[in-house]
Amino acid sequence: MVHNFNSGPSILPKVVYEQAAQAIADFNGTGLSILELGHRTSHFQAVMDEAVALVKELMQLDANKEVLFLHGGASTQFFQVPFNLLPQGKKAAYLDCGMWGTKAIKDAKLYGDVQVLGSSKDKNYTYIPNNYTVDADAVYCHITSNNTVEGTQQHEWPDTQVPLISDMSSDILSRQLDFNRFGLIYAGAQKNIGAAGVNLVVVDKNMLGHNDRSMPPMLDYRQHIANGSMLNTPPVFAVYVCMLTLRWLKEMGGIAAIEPINQAKADLLYQALDRLPVFTPTVAKEDRSLMNAVWIMEDATLEALFLEQCKKEGMIGIKGHRSVGGFRASMYNAMPLSSVQALVQLMEHFAHTHG
Ligand SMILES: Cc1ncc(COP(=O)(O)O)c(C=O)c1O
Repeated sequence: MVHNFNSGPSILPKVVYEQAAQAIADFNGTGLSILELGHRTSHFQAVMDEAVALVKELMQLDANKEVLFLHGGASTQFFQVPFNLLPQGKKAAYLDCGMWGTKAIKDAKLYGDVQVLGSSKDKNYTYIPNNYTVDADAVYCHITSNNTVEGTQQHEWPDTQVPLISDMSSDILSRQLDFNRFGLIYAGAQKNIGAAGVNLVVVDKNMLGHNDRSMPPMLDYRQHIANGSMLNTPPVFAVYVCMLTLRWLKEMGGIAAIEPINQAKADLLYQALDRLPVFTPTVAKEDRSLMNAVWIMEDATLEALFLEQCKKEGMIGIKGHRSVGGFRASMYNAMPLSSVQALVQLMEHFAHTHG
């Protein structure tokens, strides 16, 4: 038995990879593998259309929102966002809450002025700053809703009228939010949406067209919208896996059904971390992520032993990010409660023998 705590690419619902495997052998009785399917066929158009429709339905998006599936991962959005939305000589506000947000800030500085609202670097990004004011002349305010590496999550949005932009790579579709509150949302697919190789972008049409920078078509959101995410060859298989995963989430009952399960998994693990003194959670309680829990051991010399026991029990991907150390359990939508229960059982046993 394997319990997949990988941070991304990460666990997918079994039904999704079984259906994907079937489609590799024969896509919907066409006699072709999905890997051989032309993206201009009606078969693939139906996949893309369903994926887009499912995103709109699950996120309850209003008519102003465009849904794109693009290449380049979330990292491409670090520069595509300011390239499109931050005109030369204008300012954007960014919250500095972790490794990924820092990269987004670095890229934005290539295109305009950046107001860094606040930073939790002073404490190794273990909290979310909340004492800041967004300049009213900023064209947008960028946050990372969930910091995958450090294990923090935004539970409140910046108090501003400026359009919000969020990197939601590691918590999209995991909790009920007013997604229409955002001018743009982006997320690498490889955690809660599907397979690696594609990136979801939800953009409000009103955000576009205010910038006279010359753009290669591949960087221009308007071109991607006009071409239905098929300006060039899309990552056909990755989009297909997204569609299957979105279908699975809808059949589960959507975000409203998955949110309490995610909460239950996180509660179980954080309660164990708070109860067992051998483990030390690293993040401020009020900023803890429901998706990625991070902890160290009180006695660092026990870390190798605990990791060894995790491996023996089939706990995969539990080692912390190299920049943080310790441990990280990623509990995305597809992770069953039983895997977190198994981890907590192991932690209790370990605490008993080594506490
Ligand atoms: C919050 C966040 N943003 C951005 C990225 C980068 O994504 P990609 O590797 O798809 O570029 C990651 C990757 O894990 C992430 O967790």
